Formats: sequence, structure tokens, C-alpha cells
Amino acid sequence: MTKADFVVVANRLPVDRSGDDEPWRRSPGGLVTALEPVMRKADGAWVGWAGQPDVELEPFEFEGSHLVPVMLTADDIENYYEGFSNDTIWPLYHDVIAAPRYRRQWWDAYVRVNRRFAEAAAEAADENAIVWVQDYQLQLVPRMLREARPDLTIGYFHHIPFPAYGLYSQLPWRRQVLEGLLGADVIGFQRVADAGNFARAVRRQLRYETKASGITVPDGQGGTRRALAKAFPISIDADSYIELAQRPEIQARAVEIRESLGNPKKILLGVDRLDYTKGIRHRLKAFGELLEDGRVSVDDVTLVQVASPSRERVEAYVQLRDEIELAVGRVNGDYDTMGHTAIRYLHQAYPREEMVALYLAADVMLVTALRDGMNLVAKEYVASRVDNRGVLVLSEFAGAADELGSAIHINPHDIGGLKDAIMRAIDMPAAEQGRRMRALRRRVREHDVEDWSREFLEALAVFHGPGSVVE
Ligand code: G6P
Repeated sequence: MTKADFVVVANRLPVDRSGDDEPWRRSPGGLVTALEPVMRKADGAWVGWAGQPDVELEPFEFEGSHLVPVMLTADDIENYYEGFSNDTIWPLYHDVIAAPRYRRQWWDAYVRVNRRFAEAAAEAADENAIVWVQDYQLQLVPRMLREARPDLTIGYFHHIPFPAYGLYSQLPWRRQVLEGLLGADVIGFQRVADAGNFARAVRRQLRYETKASGITVPDGQGGTRRALAKAFPISIDADSYIELAQRPEIQARAVEIRESLGNPKKILLGVDRLDYTKGIRHRLKAFGELLEDGRVSVDDVTLVQVASPSRERVEAYVQLRDEIELAVGRVNGDYDTMGHTAIRYLHQAYPREEMVALYLAADVMLVTALRDGMNLVAKEYVASRVDNRGVLVLSEFAGAADELGSAIHINPHDIGGLKDAIMRAIDMPAAEQGRRMRALRRRVREHDVEDWSREFLEALAVFHGPGSVVE
């Protein structure tokens, strides 16, 4: 295989297929779209897992980039993906909303699989290439790569929160993970606070010096090198949402959705992966109480909750699904009429076209995450509202709150406050909706996912010297 000047390493490849003989399709998602131009220009390669167990695949070409599949066995999926990534790191980094489980067997699998990804990346990268590692599943890859290939320039972006030191220090392998990440030249975070938490963990655990965004790291040969740990908030490909929202057929679909719900006066919407970090129970509780208090009526207001299936073999997710479905059933049993439902619950995933139609149909978007790296749904809703209408209710615990100051900010733990915020959103006059939505849309349009990747890669190019693919 030809060697690449630019290599992305992520747990998942940017493609998906429904069966072994089906064609590959591009996964929806901003990251893929944002990196496409860089991938083309630099003869890029993407190293990742194809999404099925025990399938060994040769590298292949897809829409102008080289894809390099990494094989995961059923055992790797259980221990590295479901175990350490999603039952240890995920809950720990989301402020222990669910209890993290620390199992040595999972850690061993995490080390083993991270090494496999590092080896595949080292193999795919040309001399002096730039390698960009993505997310918490691969925190050890930067250091493993640097040891194998000191010529490379290495970036890492952390898509989820980085917790406060008091929580992080629970991790039995806390030093190894910090050392793993510090193998990168640039370590990117969603929020300034995440970068700050990371720098503090580095000071406390490793005693390295940190100054502003710079960290002085031993280079393994008696000297030091500098690494940068800084916030680069991710975004969406705003133009593609705007384009979809302007299509007549999608606008017609939004009207049809309203009709099929019995034309309620107001539609509230929640869109999440079915995950305990998203605060779905808090949202249902608040809405159920508003019905009970008689502040809203099922004839006038419907909550549509899309909860897409996720990590369905991890126990905490199995339990959450039961709890949510019990709560939905109770509210609907108490308040539904023959013509109207209180909560239209959809445990399904939809194509982007349908999501934009839903965003256009929704008067109020509810983002009530208990902790979230960014929350791109908030940005998608805003980008889709080409009519400058609609209200975003946004948790202050989502990274997006740092940027989207004109949303109605809420603390999802404060059910009384959340109920008042929902009422305020339902009753908001059109002029105020317009003022707020215009400000929100300006921010999302002025800082889209292409700006995000450009800014990150520019910071990384400083470590690369002349001739960088991202100059
Ligand atoms: C979050 C993570 C991603 C992950 C996605 C879907 O957004 O930051 O790294 O890919 O969830 O989760 P999954 O476990 O299905 O990859």
C-alpha cells in the first residue's frame, strides 16, 4: 500500500455496511465531512474498526481515501470496547453519572488493542507524516506511535469531557493514560475547562510543568519537548443542514410530522443516543410533572423523544432503556387520549433528512445532558432553523453551552427550574425567539466543523516544520 502523509486513527472507520456483501456507505457525521478535503489533498489514510467482530479485511479505497481496517475479535469488543472504553472510561469521564468498573482484564485488552491501532497507523504513515488520533478509545496510541515512529507529528482530539482530578484519580491506570496522551504534540479538548482538568492531572500525577497551554514533557533521552493541551470546540457542517432545511420536500415533511401528531400547538423534541449521560429521565420527569400540574395539556403539547440504540450489551445501557421505557409508558398511560399522545418515543435511528424535518417541526428543542463533551444535536437544531424560529433549552453541563449563550440554559438536576424553563420556551414570543435564534445561528455558521479541523491542524503544523500538508 502507498504510504500516507496524513493519517486519521479512530475507533470506527468512516464507513458502514449492513451486511458482508452490501456496499460500503459513508457514515453520517461532521468529522468525516470535515476531514475529506484534507484527506484528498494529502493522500490520506483512515485507520479504524469496520464495526463487526472477527472480520479481517484488506485496506481498500473509498471516495478518494485509503481505509485501513483494524480487526477486533469478539473478545476485544467485550473487553476493550464494551468494557474499558464504555464501562470504565465513559462513566468516569462523564463525572461518574454511572459507576465506572475497574477491571484489570479490560485494561489489558485496552493496551493490546491500542497497540494494534498504533501499529496499523505506523505502517500506514509515510516519513514525517501527520497522524491525528481521535477520542477516548485510543488514549494510549499517541505514546505508542511516538516510540515506534519519532519522525511523526502526532495530534489527539478528545471528543468527550476530561473530568476533574478528584474523579480522574480513581483510575487505577491514571499515570499510564496521561503518559499515553502526552505522546501527542497537540492534545485537543472540547472546553477550556477540560484542558484545565487535564493539565492539573498532569501536574498532580506526573509533576510535569504546565504553563498556559504548554506542557514540558521528558523526551525519553534526558531532554524535554513541549506539548500543547488546548480547547478546540468541535462543530457541525452547518451548510449541509441549512441546505437540507431549505428543501421544499423536507419542509413538507415537517408539516406532515406535525399533522401525524394531531397538530399540537407545540412540539417539544429530544434527540439523543440512548445514554445515561443525556438526562433523558430528568426531561421525562419534568414533562410528566407539567402534565400532572396541568401547566400543559396533552391536546396542546407533545414531546417527541428519539433515543437511538447504543452500546446495547453494556449493562448500564440495558438498565437505562428499561427505566426510560417504564417512565414513557407511565406518562402515556396516564395522559394519552385517543387522538393525542403525551410522548412519542422512538427507539430508532433516522437519516439526516428526517432529522432536519423533525428539527423544523419542533418548537422547543430539549438538550438536558448531565454531562456532555459538546452535544452536536444542539448545533444541528440551530443550523436547521433557517426560519429563525424555535427555542433551544440547553444544559449548562453540555460543552455547547460555552458557545451558545443565547439558548435558555438549565441545570437538569433542578427539576423545578427545568419545568419553568420548558414553560418559558413554550410561551416565548416570536420576536424573542428570532433574536435568540439569529445569535445562535451566527455562532454555528461562523465556527463550523471545517474551522475546527483547520484550527487544530494549524496548531499541529507548528510542530511539523515546513512542507506541512495543512499549510
Ligand atoms: C460519542 C463518542 C464517539 C463515539 C460515539 C458513538 O460521540 O465521542 O467516539 O463513536 O459516541 O458511540 P459508539 O460506541 O457507537 O462508537
